[in-house]
Amino acid sequence: VQPLEDAICGYPIVAAGGGAEEVAELVERLRPTGRLLVVSDSNVGPLYAKPLADELRSSGREVREFTVEAGESSKCIAVMERLWNEAFAGPIDRDDAVVAVGGGVVGDLGGFLASTLMRGIPVVQVPTSVLAMSDAAIGGKTGINLSAGKNLVGAFHRPCGVIQWIGALPTLSEREHRSGLAEVVKSAMIEGEDAFAALERGAGSLVAGDPGVTQRGVMMAAHLKARVVHEDEHEGGLRRLLNLGHTFGHALERSSGYGEWTHGECVAVGMVIVCRYGESIGFTDSAVTSRLVSLLESLKLPVSTRSLRVDEWLDPMLRDKKRSGDAIRLILCRKPGVCETVKTPITEIAEWVRTQC
Ligand SMILES: NC(=O)c1ccc[n+]([C@@H]2O[C@H](COP(=O)([O-])OP(=O)(O)OC[C@H]3O[C@@H](n4cnc5c(N)ncnc54)[C@H](O)[C@@H]3O)[C@@H](O)[C@H]2O)c1
Repeated sequence: VQPLEDAICGYPIVAAGGGAEEVAELVERLRPTGRLLVVSDSNVGPLYAKPLADELRSSGREVREFTVEAGESSKCIAVMERLWNEAFAGPIDRDDAVVAVGGGVVGDLGGFLASTLMRGIPVVQVPTSVLAMSDAAIGGKTGINLSAGKNLVGAFHRPCGVIQWIGALPTLSEREHRSGLAEVVKSAMIEGEDAFAALERGAGSLVAGDPGVTQRGVMMAAHLKARVVHEDEHEGGLRRLLNLGHTFGHALERSSGYGEWTHGECVAVGMVIVCRYGESIGFTDSAVTSRLVSLLESLKLPVSTRSLRVDEWLDPMLRDKKRSGDAIRLILCRKPGVCETVKTPITEIAEWVRTQC
């Protein structure tokens, strides 16, 4: 029986390498009383949420299941309203809890649902994608998208526990798996040399989906995020470091219309670009960029992109929340474990992008 110790962020983060029975036992320990509202999507629901709900019912728990269509388009107000109405179509009270089983979309939706039902009921996050395990399920950010932009409406709502369902990873698509690994690499760049070297050594096993190596990678990323969030829950300075690679990555994601490239692929390329920029101003050693490129390549992640127009790079930066006046706070990496926010004039980035990208 695994101990359910609180991670530094105030709630336990545990890994479950097995099936529904193991996860059900962990859910029971996190929420021993009350009804459970299991939220999932059309891919993860039949494979994992349904067996989990059945397992919980078999031990006498009252469980209701809610399923949304898989995909980012479910993170919207119409789906949210449907979930609110479905929740109140049956018995519910403040002792009940949401159990969000799925990738980051379900985590954000389920977390937001929990934060709003009767002004807030508990949520257990059960991430089933690499990205959700290493990033989205930790930190308590929940929300939905609007036509004006992604994640514009939401709430900070801490889970009462996070169960990394490692045993669910074999059915995650190869591309989603690899994309999630980009965030694990980002975390290692922030965490330090030991974490980065461990990924270099384990790259082959990570791509092959080895459960033990993957668990160590996502746990390293989850614990880094937990530490950063603990020190900076509402995104002042420290939490910004987690945006390493995201400034250029977002530009790429936007210019490809959110679809051609996954978020993780864009972050991978974004990290390489920001390291090359770091080299150009004497901040990043070229050996660091080379190691990053080799690691990403061995994880079968992209390290370069077709050339974008200067405005395609700059427009998203001008709208970025990390912008401050005529400058943007770029996250640069000197070497693994030494990342800093550097206020950089947008004109300087524009000039570099014009000549280099
Ligand atoms: N709240 C946060 O702090 C935070 C941080 C990062 C990202 N996010 C959000 O996370 C979302 C992206 O998360 P994601 O990449 O997990 O996307 P996702 O939830 O859409 O999952 C990707 C795909 O994989 C499927 N899937 C997930 N687990 C599976 C499994 N074990 N087996 C088979 N299929 C599986 C899903 O059904 C989906 O089709 C975005 O909406 C993003 O905004 C939130």
